[in-house]
Amino acid sequence: MLHARLEVDPGTAIGPVPRRIFGTFVEHMGRSVYEGIYEPGHPTADAAGFRADVLALVQELGATTARYPGGNFVSGYRWEDGVGPVASRPVRLDAAWHSVETNEVGLHEFARWASAAGLELMYAVNLGTRGIAEAADVLEYANHPGGTALSERRAADGTPEPFGIRLWCLGNEVDGPWQIGHKTAEEYGRLAAESARLMKFIDPTVELVAAGSSNAEMPSFGEWERTVLRHTAGLVDHISLHAYYEEWDGDVDSFLASGAGLDRYIATVAAIIDEVAAETGAAPVGISVDEWNVWYQRRWNEIDKPRVMNGDWPAHPRLIEDEYSVTDAVVVGSLLISLLRNADRVSMANLAQLVNVIAPIRSEPNGPAWRQTTFFPFQLTAALASGQVVRPSVASPLYETAKYGAVEVLDTVATVDDSGTVTLFAVNRSATEDLALEAVLPGAGLRLQRASTLGVPEGGDRHTSNTATAQPVAPRELAGVTITPSPDGASSLVGATLPALSWTVFVFGAASDPSHSDETVASRG
Ligand code: AHR
Repeated sequence: MLHARLEVDPGTAIGPVPRRIFGTFVEHMGRSVYEGIYEPGHPTADAAGFRADVLALVQELGATTARYPGGNFVSGYRWEDGVGPVASRPVRLDAAWHSVETNEVGLHEFARWASAAGLELMYAVNLGTRGIAEAADVLEYANHPGGTALSERRAADGTPEPFGIRLWCLGNEVDGPWQIGHKTAEEYGRLAAESARLMKFIDPTVELVAAGSSNAEMPSFGEWERTVLRHTAGLVDHISLHAYYEEWDGDVDSFLASGAGLDRYIATVAAIIDEVAAETGAAPVGISVDEWNVWYQRRWNEIDKPRVMNGDWPAHPRLIEDEYSVTDAVVVGSLLISLLRNADRVSMANLAQLVNVIAPIRSEPNGPAWRQTTFFPFQLTAALASGQVVRPSVASPLYETAKYGAVEVLDTVATVDDSGTVTLFAVNRSATEDLALEAVLPGAGLRLQRASTLGVPEGGDRHTSNTATAQPVAPRELAGVTITPSPDGASSLVGATLPALSWTVFVFGAASDPSHSDETVASRG
């Protein structure tokens, strides 16, 4: 048994939980839109063709924003194809994913669905094959109140009131040679700056996200951010980073330390933001982790991609429908801890993606929809993180990883709200040993309201996953949590055992706070 200790001091809070870090991503790719959220003819489909069973799971997930319509797809997309009468919309080649796009779903349909799902729409413009004029056009179409050709066209297309979209991504992964319209940092920096300038002339209330690096291993990483930020200083509000993790060759120790990798990636981008802010005098921008997840990219690149990219041009083929294990869910929980831990720099984040495509929710045509293992840490973190984020002081054993060097076995972050409720998120990164945890929490007489853990289920192993027919992986109550007043009466002392390879959330309510009854927590969770 390993041992770790932590202490939560609300005086060291780094800022409020940024609700937008619980965003997701819906790309016109594979079966994310078609046969994912939208399937006319499905027994649960509404009059517009959207599946009620999938919508219910999306609502349960509790995400806050949805990035749309891509991803790589957006770099070849003409937004006009997705508006106007559905019957006259063109069918196009989607060269990014070697598919055909029918355009049955476009801006109006998606915006209505997102609103029903309680998601703020984050719209990406095409800065791959297109440029400043088209970025300005789609903004005017979406947000201008009326009286111009584009805004009147929106009204005629069925939405008289402006969509009022605040969040706009200036292209996608333009640094990658796989991207349609791939650019150098200089080329993209200029294009992003001039698109941003015009977009803010048209609607000064928009928040703009410049595209940062596609991953921390890109040869241009660092120089890309510096160049793009210099060009866009004072014009954009956020810069993105994309981060996907996977287990390579059975190296579970490195995989479980993915959150340490994300911490370092964020710290590097933050340092460059500060450097450029000091140089230009512009305010430091936020970091939009606008694609993150576990994704078995190696499998995609080596096996699926050669097959898909050389074949036919199918409509909504099965693409990267990764089936997530317990281990993957623990890593997703740990990545969420990293996002919270960096809440002073990360302004928003999008779990990529939402349905079917590397997603927490899966669905089958004319069949069921279900929760993947990764659904649970996301749902519980989004539901239970509240108030101010606190980085606990931690004394944890270290373990060696091939990828990140020595990393703490205990990965943790806390939130503390105005009523004194303390929520503690904790991952035991050891794949083999339980971890005895001692926690010193602020406030005497805290009451345990919840201790939910996600780990290896009875009769399963770390590779166990949920499928269409069986879902053995779900959070369960963590037994044996003790809570006692500290000798000086100022704090509460908690004891718990975190199982090997597990993610856990604890909620402790202040004794005096009646609003934090067990019932309240159950309904929030
Ligand atoms: O989310 C899948 C793909 O990953 C996106 O289209 C792209 O932006 C990234 O490479």
